[in-house]
Amino acid sequence: MKVPIAQPVMTEKMIEAASNAYRNERLTLGESVFKFEEAFARMCGVKFAVAVSSGTAALQLSLQANGFKAGDKVVAPAMSFVATTNSFVPFGGVPVFAEVLEKDYTIDPAKLKAVIDNKTRAVIPVHLYGHVAAMDEINDVAKRNNLVVIEDACQAHGAVYRGRKAGSLGHAGCFSFYPTKNMHVGGDGGMITTNDDKVADACARMRHCGRKKGSNYEHDIIGYTYRLNSANAAIGLEQLKMLPEWNDKRRAAASVYDQMLKGVGDLVLPPSPTGDIAPVYHLYTLRTKKRYELKAHLESKGVGVGLNYEIPIHLQPVYRQMFGFKEGLVPVTEKCCREVIAIPMFADITMDQIKYVVENVKEFYSK
Ligand SMILES: Cc1ncc(COP(=O)(O)O)c(C=O)c1O
Repeated sequence: MKVPIAQPVMTEKMIEAASNAYRNERLTLGESVFKFEEAFARMCGVKFAVAVSSGTAALQLSLQANGFKAGDKVVAPAMSFVATTNSFVPFGGVPVFAEVLEKDYTIDPAKLKAVIDNKTRAVIPVHLYGHVAAMDEINDVAKRNNLVVIEDACQAHGAVYRGRKAGSLGHAGCFSFYPTKNMHVGGDGGMITTNDDKVADACARMRHCGRKKGSNYEHDIIGYTYRLNSANAAIGLEQLKMLPEWNDKRRAAASVYDQMLKGVGDLVLPPSPTGDIAPVYHLYTLRTKKRYELKAHLESKGVGVGLNYEIPIHLQPVYRQMFGFKEGLVPVTEKCCREVIAIPMFADITMDQIKYVVENVKEFYSK
C-alpha cells in the first residue's frame, strides 16, 4: 500500500466551475473572485475578505495596510514556514523570533513581552498545523504594547478559538490556498480577512497595482500584481463548500491516530482539541528523538512523511547570513524542530490507510 502525506482534491464539479469562469468571466477579478471573497468572509465571521495570489502576498499586504514600514520589527515564531517572515523581510522588516509553547508549537504569550521594544510594529501568531495560538493572551500583550496582530492562518482554514474562527481574531487574518492546504484553489492563492474597511480597501488596491479607486491609469499607492485568477476563485468557492465536512473528516482521522498511537515508543502526540480550541489538523505531527530513522522506515513502506519544519526560520541559511541568528535563540522551538515529523493526513484518508500507517509506526518501535 502507498499512503501519500497529503492528497489535494479536484472534482469534476470544481473543474466545471473553473471552465465556466473561463468561458463567462474576465480572467482576473471576475465575478467568482468577489463571490469567493464574500463566502470566505462569512465562513470566518468577518466583514471583509480580499483574495490575493498567495498566502505570502496576504501577509505582506496585511502588514503594509496596517502601517508596517521599512525598519519596523515584526515578531513571529521561528517554528513556521519561511514565508511567515519572508512576507516582510524583502521590504525592510526586521524579524524578531518569539519562543513557542512545547504543547502546541504556537507563540508562548508569557515570553512575548520580553522580545518587544519601541521599534516593534506587529506580531504574527501562526496557527501551526491548524491549531489556533493563544489569541486572547497574545492580543492582550499586543494591545498593551500598541502592536498590530496579523494572524498567519495559512494552515488553519475553519479552525475555532473560543467560539470564533481563525482569521477573525486579530487586525487581519491571512490564508494560503496552496494545493496541500485544507482547501485550495487549484493553484496558488491567498485571502486576507479583516473587519477594518480601510485595511480591506488598501489591500484590494495594493493587489491591483495600487490603482486609485475607480481609475485605470492613476496610481496613488505603491501596489503589486497579486490578483487571484477568476478560475481559481471559482474552484475556491466549490472547495469552501466542502471545508466543514473535510475538517470534520480530518478531526475524525486525527482522533483515530491519537487513540492508536498513544503510548507508542517515545512519540509525543499533537495537542488534542479542547473546549476552547477545535483544530483542523492541516498536518498531523508527532515528535520523536528518532525521526530520521522513523522517516526512513515509513518511506520504505510507501508511507509519505514530512519534516515540517526541520529548520526553524532563524537558522535558515539566508536568515543566518542576513541577520546573524544562531542556535540557542529559541531553545524550545529548536528542540521541537529537531523532533517533529508529520504523517499522512488528508480529508479522504481511509481507515485502512490509517491502520497501515500505524502498523508501520508500531513495527518501527518493536524492532
Ligand atoms: C504557516 C504558513 N505561512 C505562510 C504560508 C505561505 O503561503 P503561500 O505558500 O500561499 O505563499 C504558508 C504556506 O505555504 C504557511 O504554511
